Amino acid sequence: MAEDLVSQLGALGEEFARAIAPLGDEQSIRDVQARYLGKKGKVTLLMRDMGGLDPDRRKAVGAEFNRIKNAITDAVDARLRELEQAVHQRDLARTVDVTLPGRSGWDGHVHILSQVRAEQVAIFAELGFDIAEGPQVETDFHNFEALAMPKDHPARDMQDTFYVTDDIVLRTHTSPVQIRTMLARKPPVRIVAPGVVYRRDDDPTHSPMFTQMEGLLVDRHVRFSDLKGVLLHYVRRFFGKATLDVRFRPSYFPFVEPGAEVDMQCAFCSGGGTSSCRVCKGTGWVEIGGSGMVDPDVFAHVGYDSELYTGFAFGMGVERMAMLRHGVNDIKYYYTGDLRFLRQF
Ligand code: DAH
Repeated sequence: MAEDLVSQLGALGEEFARAIAPLGDEQSIRDVQARYLGKKGKVTLLMRDMGGLDPDRRKAVGAEFNRIKNAITDAVDARLRELEQAVHQRDLARTVDVTLPGRSGWDGHVHILSQVRAEQVAIFAELGFDIAEGPQVETDFHNFEALAMPKDHPARDMQDTFYVTDDIVLRTHTSPVQIRTMLARKPPVRIVAPGVVYRRDDDPTHSPMFTQMEGLLVDRHVRFSDLKGVLLHYVRRFFGKATLDVRFRPSYFPFVEPGAEVDMQCAFCSGGGTSSCRVCKGTGWVEIGGSGMVDPDVFAHVGYDSELYTGFAFGMGVERMAMLRHGVNDIKYYYTGDLRFLRQF
């Protein structure tokens, strides 16, 4: 009798599993569950027969009863979860058009000015230049005085200086890094100093804050032709054109003698000087910075012996070089954070 009950229970369990498998809605699953476990359910009714068993037997049958009951409850739960998932998927498919083309995420990347700056430093590093740095809030001594611009020097007027106090300024150029470097090191010196500088002007080609790259090389027997060789290499590497030329126009900067403005051949019309070239305006040349041989007066300020050493220096606008290479016509694009601009680089 007991064995009989156990096998009958087992059979009901299997029967239930078969009954629930094809069902696709909660109501019919609950109905089937009730047909087996409800008050008049098949399993429940079968249990009534347990009453007549002797205690030993009852125990074994009871255990089987519990097993089947749990199995049925678990199967109902699992099936209902499956159904819920399926409904969820169907809803998703209704609201999400899975046939639309994918939209990928946007990766951040290095700002064009930082890219260009790093590239420029790397080019000079190929020629053995180290990187030097100086503070953006600078003393009058480093920014002007030691660069042969005493207090009443007319060249100070050209610089449109932001004064913090009478003796402290926002550096107007990276040239003070020349002074800091020479005060800290004995020659030979071969450095580039990239960094931001500040001036009180503001129009499409000027911004009150912009980036310069200073260069300084001091050693025995340094000549102007060394300056030309270094700048030629730099311009050709940066623009990726091995034929670009540079030229010097005599000019005045208090801290170099002789001093010169540096032009390079226009990379846009390849120096052809087509009258339609909007970059060089048909001249074939574009200005990229200032340069010259370090003035002995500067050497005197930093304690270098100008009988033994000579040197050259140059300063260039980093934004300007990037504008020339990428055809950007307003310096403000670099700073306004417009992603439509920034993503192009
Ligand atoms: N410091 C100058 C400026 O910002 C640029 C310059 C000119 C730097 C001549 C130099 C140089 O090193 O030799 O206007």
